[in-house]
Amino acid sequence: MKHIRKPIILITAVLLLLLCGCSTATPDNTADQATEATASTTAETTAQSSTAQRHKVIIDTDTGSDDAAGMILAASSDRLDILGVTVLYGNVPLHQAAENSLQALEVCNVNAPVYIGADKPLKKERKEMISVHGADGMGDQNLIHPKHDEEKGDAIDFILDAIKSDPGEVEIIALGPLTNIALALQKDPDTMKLCKHIWVMGTTGFGAGNATPVAEFNVYNDAEAYDIVLRSELPITILGLDMIKQEEARLTADDISKMANGNKKGVFMSKAFTKLFAFYQKSGQNMMLPDPMAVACLTMPDMVLETKSCYGAACTDSDATYGQVILYQEGAVYEAMPEIGSYNLEIVTKIDTKLFKDYFMSVMTD
Ligand code: BDR
Ligand code: CA
Repeated sequence: MKHIRKPIILITAVLLLLLCGCSTATPDNTADQATEATASTTAETTAQSSTAQRHKVIIDTDTGSDDAAGMILAASSDRLDILGVTVLYGNVPLHQAAENSLQALEVCNVNAPVYIGADKPLKKERKEMISVHGADGMGDQNLIHPKHDEEKGDAIDFILDAIKSDPGEVEIIALGPLTNIALALQKDPDTMKLCKHIWVMGTTGFGAGNATPVAEFNVYNDAEAYDIVLRSELPITILGLDMIKQEEARLTADDISKMANGNKKGVFMSKAFTKLFAFYQKSGQNMMLPDPMAVACLTMPDMVLETKSCYGAACTDSDATYGQVILYQEGAVYEAMPEIGSYNLEIVTKIDTKLFKDYFMSVMTD
């Protein structure tokens, strides 16, 4: 019996230990559950925040070939929800801009509404300028006849309604003259105050112009509209010509041929760029990508290495300064003591050009 009792005591002790082990394991289990809960909460939070981080955007554009490429970056990005596209005169006539926008969306299988906006600048007549994108804005290649039509509604009402129905959440990416946005500001300034952010391709930045030595094309088209928008006190990020002129950010003949052998978007854009590329090559230059780089400020934000806070105003006198944008940098001392408003502009002053080019090419070729 004595010999039997010992193993029984041992087994009982082991069982007791196991039982105790189970009960002492409870806090660990609780901790595991807590960890799991935290992990799933974190996962949910991450999911929620990545949803929250998605920019709800309206693309306002005068769709020529580089605008179309910018729209393709936007439509291919999981960081953006395109609420709609609003078009205006600029690179091409109004309805051509709408058709080109529909083409770019169709290539990406994105079905966003396209609304018609301003057909001319606020005060002046439309300017005669060289059509660098071809007569149809898309290299005159007879590319796509889009399945969808432009909407019947008006672009300005669409912008205002979208902002009203989601106050503080809607952002605008402006790739052309700022006439539509100025009209929206004039029609309903209170609603426009609820616009979260405006991302702009325009101005010379801190460099030289392309429409005139001091003016960039989008500003030169309607300096009055630009002036209204710049002084609106809305938060605005501006990508100017000085950033896009950098050699590493330009497209070479080799890049175009990679695009031609790339995916559907690359093939489409390699053709649409025919006239624009030829325009640059005539003067021995590689091709600038203004509007795609402006869109990439949202879709590839790591590319933006530096911005400077500024107050800005556009010159509207009908002389050689028309369309020049004067930028007053926060912190700078101006001896003439000009009266300036708030520093609502963030001017992009440093770009990771390699990151931008690699990103652009990956959208067109992967
Ligand atoms: C701007 O002018 C247009 O040709 C381009 O689309 C871009 O928006 C560059 O000055
Ligand atoms: Ca443009």
